[in-house]
Amino acid sequence: MAELKACIFDMDGVIVNSADFHFHAWKKLADELRIDIDDDFEIHLKGISRVDSLEKILAKGNLVLDNDTKLSLMRNKNEEYLESITGLKQEDLLPGALDFLKECKANGVKIALGSSSKNADIILEKTDIAGYFDEVIDGNKVKFSKPDPEVFLKGAAGMNIAPNEIVVFEDALSGVQAAKSGGFFCVALGNPEELKQADYVIDGLHQINLDKLKSIFNH
Ligand code: BG6
Ligand code: MG
Repeated sequence: MAELKACIFDMDGVIVNSADFHFHAWKKLADELRIDIDDDFEIHLKGISRVDSLEKILAKGNLVLDNDTKLSLMRNKNEEYLESITGLKQEDLLPGALDFLKECKANGVKIALGSSSKNADIILEKTDIAGYFDEVIDGNKVKFSKPDPEVFLKGAAGMNIAPNEIVVFEDALSGVQAAKSGGFFCVALGNPEELKQADYVIDGLHQINLDKLKSIFNH
């Protein structure tokens, strides 16, 4: 039986309550392009890269655009998103996130970030938690977006720990699929029906501590 040696955390929707801000910014962009995306569409956007998100929205509206237009739309979306997180601070971390990071650190469980976002450094700095991470892999460091496991495999390699000794925390279906295809144990945060490919599902990090995690992991 493998020993739990590290946790890899997705960022948006796991540590930080930023998932809604991403979706609002995409919704605004879609509205401007007269493409109808409703709340149910969010599950298709969660976890994937900025460019993949735009492509999904354009495909939904059967809209074909040139590269320069796409770049400018992504720039606008990111400005809108960054505007919405201007005031982000440590108190805005999701419930239980900081306590669990502290508990991992105090018990020698290594910590990595595995996020598709290119804004990870900004968010870690604003919330003042960068110091907890042994490894940070974000959207600037990977070639393939989730559900490809690259982001998590790079995190594991950076910590020099095998995937089967690591738990990945994810709120997105694409992220759960990435974790499972990389050979990780995956704890999902959110709706058990939507995230049933995970090994275990919780509402948020406030529902976990190391004792509980180890017992789930060794089950
Ligand atoms: C993921 C989010 O973490 O990062 C997605 O779940 C987001 O919604 C993606 O689109 C890319 O983020 P960013 O910050 O690089 O635009
Ligand atoms: Mg997420």
